[in-house]
Amino acid sequence: MIEADPAPAAPHDDPTATCDPGFAVYVHWPFCLSKCPYCDFNSHVRAGGIDETRYLAAFRSEIAHRAALTPGRAVRSIFFGGGTPSLMAPATVAGIIDAIAARWPIEPGAEITLEANPTSVEAGRFRGYRDAGVNRLSVGVQALADADLEALGRRHTVEEALAAVRLAASLFPRFTFDLIYGRSGQSLASWRAELARALDLAGDHISLYQLTVEPDTAFERLRDAGKLVLPDEDESLAFFRATREMTEARGLPAYEVSNHARPGAESRHNLVYWRYGEYAGIGPGAHGRIVTDRGRLAQACERRPEAWLARVEAEGFGLVEDQPLSPEEQGDEFLLMGLRLAEGVDPRRFAALSGRTLDVGRLEGLIGDGFLERDSSGRIRVTSLGAPLLDTVVADVAA
Ligand SMILES: C[S@@+](CC[C@H](N)C(=O)[O-])C[C@H]1O[C@@H](n2cnc3c(N)ncnc32)[C@H](O)[C@@H]1O
Ligand code: SF4
Repeated sequence: MIEADPAPAAPHDDPTATCDPGFAVYVHWPFCLSKCPYCDFNSHVRAGGIDETRYLAAFRSEIAHRAALTPGRAVRSIFFGGGTPSLMAPATVAGIIDAIAARWPIEPGAEITLEANPTSVEAGRFRGYRDAGVNRLSVGVQALADADLEALGRRHTVEEALAAVRLAASLFPRFTFDLIYGRSGQSLASWRAELARALDLAGDHISLYQLTVEPDTAFERLRDAGKLVLPDEDESLAFFRATREMTEARGLPAYEVSNHARPGAESRHNLVYWRYGEYAGIGPGAHGRIVTDRGRLAQACERRPEAWLARVEAEGFGLVEDQPLSPEEQGDEFLLMGLRLAEGVDPRRFAALSGRTLDVGRLEGLIGDGFLERDSSGRIRVTSLGAPLLDTVVADVAA
């Protein structure tokens, strides 16, 4: 029999407490003005306009469908991701938030995040998002050098990005921004200088991603043609270590591989994923994990926006994948997510999900080698030595 997770607990004072991973709603807006050459997210460029009224009606249908499957949950977080959600009219964002609030209770102090690109046109909509109910803005800055922004295919300048971040800081109770490091031609010294500048600008959260060359992207083709040279393994490790050291020194330690926050200011939305909570995925290509009487379901929506729209209009929902995960799959996913976190995982939850215990010999070996550590409560976490080798360590723990 598939072990169902315990029913979500009642709202409590500390929404980031580890005991209750929580319930979140992810909303995907799949459109961008152009495709960045490194990006493999589900994003599409459409020359004609987007019929937002039609999309809003489809989002409402999907929300009703997922709410019917998850009675009794209270929403801890809503996240508008993309694509580029800052291309949406604030009225569309308000309509989606209202539809969610009409279907589920919202936890007091719930986090409502929207990902924004920092062009001046998009910054002009920030106030509208705040008025719609967004209380946390996540700005895609990516680089603080104009030549690098151009090489990344971005449509904004450093000046526009700085203005957008300052505006976000003045309008929203919480804000964060993203940078990509390990870029072509970037030296360790220039990254240190850029990160120092970014940390001066940061509030209590920042996401710092090492550039990954994803399959089927323009960057992959350039790299394979020898036209894009990125840092080698040793240089990447030096970038990673400098990032950890500098963020920690500024009081924004890594709470996850690429995410840094003052304790208590972590993204509650991402914590729901990494703590293996439940989340409903709404919109083209969105993924979800919810627990029903069929077990923990892996759900995914149709990726192509127009096909998703047609499906929702015909059937009321856009799922193309909706199957229970086996206990073994749940255990693997739990480790894959949880070991990304500085707080690590509770082996008892692994046992409850997977129906088996972690291999003691392997654990002791990894602890002995310094890649893992165990705290007094029995939680297992990856050490700073193991962090750059996370995928290998996780594969070893899960084996
Ligand atoms: C899907 S993007 C959406 C946000 C928004 N559209 C933007 O571009 O700013 C989310 C974040 O993932 C990061 N990201 C996307 N592709 C990446 C890659 N190949 N390597 C490293 N980081 C990447 C970027 O920092 C980006 O801000
Ligand atoms: S990085 Fe952001 S703006 Fe660029 S294509 Fe991907 S989702 Fe769109």
